[in-house]
Parts: sequence; structure tokens; C-alpha cells
Amino acid sequence: MQVEATTQSPLDTGADTIVVGVFEDEGIAHDLPGGALSALLESGEAQRKFKRLAVTHAEGARFVLVGLGARDEFDPERARVAAAVAHGRARELGANTLCWEVPHHVDDAIVEALVNGTLVHAYRFERYKPHENSRQVQRLLLSAHHDVAEPVRVATILAGAQNRARDLGNTPANDLPPSALATYSEELAGRLGLRHTVLAEGAIREEGMGAFAAVAQGSDEAARLIRLDYDGTSGGGGNSPLLALIGKAVTFDSGGISLKPAGTMHEMKFDMCGGAAVIEAIGALAELTAPVRVMALIGATENLPSGTAVKPGDIVRALDGTTVEVNNTDAEGRLVLGDCISYARREGAARLVDVATLTGGIVVALGSTYAGLMSNDEAWASHVLAAGSRTGELVWRMPLHPEYADMIKGRYGQIVNNTSKREATALTAGEFLHHFAGDVPWAHLDIAGTAYDVRRPYFADKGATGFGVRLLVDLAREAAR
Ligand code: BES
Ligand code: MN
Ligand code: ZN
Repeated sequence: MQVEATTQSPLDTGADTIVVGVFEDEGIAHDLPGGALSALLESGEAQRKFKRLAVTHAEGARFVLVGLGARDEFDPERARVAAAVAHGRARELGANTLCWEVPHHVDDAIVEALVNGTLVHAYRFERYKPHENSRQVQRLLLSAHHDVAEPVRVATILAGAQNRARDLGNTPANDLPPSALATYSEELAGRLGLRHTVLAEGAIREEGMGAFAAVAQGSDEAARLIRLDYDGTSGGGGNSPLLALIGKAVTFDSGGISLKPAGTMHEMKFDMCGGAAVIEAIGALAELTAPVRVMALIGATENLPSGTAVKPGDIVRALDGTTVEVNNTDAEGRLVLGDCISYARREGAARLVDVATLTGGIVVALGSTYAGLMSNDEAWASHVLAAGSRTGELVWRMPLHPEYADMIKGRYGQIVNNTSKREATALTAGEFLHHFAGDVPWAHLDIAGTAYDVRRPYFADKGATGFGVRLLVDLAREAAR
């Protein structure tokens, strides 16, 4: 969809479909000469209640009226939802050019959310259903009295990145093994001028990343450590602290020898959604030419059982020298990420964020509303929480505690990847990563609940959500201030 800002009035744009939002206790800001829109409200056909829709035709255009509810309850999340329901009706009616009349006296975050809600709602994963290609709105215009070109530009880039992350997540494991993810990153890097480096599986092992390599050894698909570097500070600010974004990209997690039950195993193609978010976030930062310095590390591997697979009880040596007992081969994400965290530290990262579909425990605790946040640094945690609430990609802080750290102490090795009791699994996983982060400011986002199948009106197509892309971009930009 092509997206543009305009200061023309909606009717002057020639759009075939115009969306007008109405707040409670307010009238129509710009009615038509005959008062058709106000009349629709008065008749009760159009309502101000949030999400209510009504359609009428006048002056050669189609008007979609959408209830916005109370002005003081209206926020970017509500704007995303309003945009989604309006887009849904417009698409149903065969709209070609959709023009939002931006409500008066709203800030740029609302404009961004209207764009995001429309583009995220319009997303369909139809790669394998070419004949079902649904009708599409071709253009989106944002009409306002003042210039909204900048929020429209930013939101369009971010929604594009988010939807590409959804494509990566939805693509099945047979078509997106680690090598394909590396190729994808390389193309993205070429297009956006990022530095791109890849360690193949042999190099991962030779580098000493024995925990990562242990996960990879069971599969015939070779693992990759993908690295993307972006420096937007070359005009000065060269000593701004290097931020590392680290993503879990287990392109398929069968559990390995500790095999998962069959029922929902197919969902484990989504176990690379953290990696996808990281790839698209650094891509979006480059597209925005943000003045930040960021390194992205994506640990890409399958986790499969075979004659060469890591076995429960095996002891492996991580990059930082830690010996790890692999008591459950299904707790593989932390093995991959622990080594990526050590690698990022060695490469000079001053701040770390990892994003991972890490535990079922976080889904039990938070459902698909919040991602779990664990952090060793108060200031860094506040930055992440703030980025979450600004972007609507909500995160809830979960505790770390020396008692949780005690639970991963090993009997035969220094630490174990699975605790003996099934308690606080999201938090002991967090402590496992904390072991490798040490005291470098670090934040861990467990997105197992928010990465796919989230029931929100703008996720019309269930499947991958692209969670994390907007949060990471916002975090990188804000932290650089
Ligand atoms: N990828 C899974 C976590 C997951 C679960 C993601 C549900 C999305 C939805 C992870 O690798 C895993 O298997 N975690 C185990 C760890 C356990 C064996 C300690 C879990 O959380 O059950
Ligand atoms: Mn697993
Ligand atoms: Zn996993």
C-alpha cells in the first residue's frame, strides 16, 4: 500500500473512501454542505462509541464514520484499533484510495498509530495461497491541517518492517532454514547499506560457542550466527555506547531428544520470531537513518533429534568458558542466546537487549498481552518499559533473584539449562542469560506469548505479529538521546 500525508481536504484528494472519526460529546469537524454526516449521527446510524462504524455516500465519495469514544481515553492503541476496523470495512466495500481525516488536536503518535493500524490490518500471508489473493486498498492518505509527513514516513517504514518480520515468522521451517535467514539478511543489508557478517556452523564451533553449537549439531541444516552492523553516527557522536540487539532464531524447535508433544509442535516454526524482529529492527533504523550505533546478532539454528544430536546430560563449554549441563534439550534457546550475549560483550557492546520466544512459563504468566522483561539494570529496564508503552508493544517486568540464580547451579557442570523443579521457568531462564550478561546493562524480552496468534483487532491475519520491531527501534532511538 502506498502511504502519503496531505494537507488537502479529504474530498479534494479524490479519494474514493474517506474515514471520519467522531469523539463522544463532539460533532463532525468538517461536515459536507448538506450536513449529511451530522445527520447520520443524529439518526443513530452512526455512533460515537468506540469502534462503531457507519457508511454513507455523498459528493461522489464513500464516507466511513468510526466512533472514537471519549477523547481523554483515546490513545495510540485505540487509534490502531479504529484504523483497523475502518480499513476492514473499506476493504470489504472495495475501496481503492482510503483517506483518513486526522482528528483535530491529536499528536504525532496518533498519526503513526493510524498508519500502523491500517498497514498491520491490511497484512495477509498469502505466499502459499496465490489464488486467494484478497482485494487490497491501494493507497492510504492522511489528511491534516498541519504537515504530518514525518510521522507518516516513520510509521510507514516501521509497519513495513513489522510486516516483513511477520512474513519471516509465518514462513515454514522448510523454506526458512538458518541459511535462508542469512541470505535474507544479506539482501536486506545490501539494500540498506548495513555491514553483514555470517559465521557458519563450523566457525561457530571453532569460535568456542559450544552451547550454541550443541543445539545445532542434531540437524542437517547448518546453523548460522548472523551479524548486522549499523552506524548512523558518522557525523559525530561516534562514542555513543554500542547497543547490541540479540535475537533467538530457532527456525524449528522440535525439542530435540527431549522431544515436544506432537499437538502444537508445528507452532515451533515461530521460534525464530525474536531473530526476525531484530533483523527488521536494525533494517528499519537504517531506513530511518537514525543517529545510533547498533549491532544485531541473530543465533539461527534448528533444534532436532538425530544420531548426532546433543543428549540430556551432555556437558558443553560456552564461549565464556562456563560449563553447561544440558539436562533438557528443549531448553535450547538459552544455550544459543548465552553464547550470543558473550559474543556481543566481547565485541564491545555496552548495552544488551535479547528478544526470544524463550519459555512456555511466560505465556502462562502473561498470556499474549505483555511480553516478559527481565533486567539487571534499573535505568535500562525503565528505558525498555517506556519504549514498550510508547509503541504499544507492552512489556511487564518480571523479577530476577539470587534464589532463581541458585536454581540453575549445576551438579556436574557449573550451570544447568533446566532446573530440577518446574517452578518459575521464565525467571530461571532469565537467570541463565543473566549469567552471561554479567553486569553489562542487559534486558531480556521473553516474547513466547506475544510473537504469534495474538487476538487484537489489527491482527486480522493470525500468525506472526512482528512483536518487538517497533519497541527495539524506539528503544534504540530514545537511548541514543
Ligand atoms: N521455544 C520454546 C518456548 C515456547 C513455548 C515458545 C511456547 C512459544 C510457545 C522453548 O525452547 C522451550 O521449549 N522452552 C521450554 C523450556 C523447559 C524445557 C525448561 C519450556 O518453556 O517449556
Ligand atoms: Mn525448546
Ligand atoms: Zn525454543
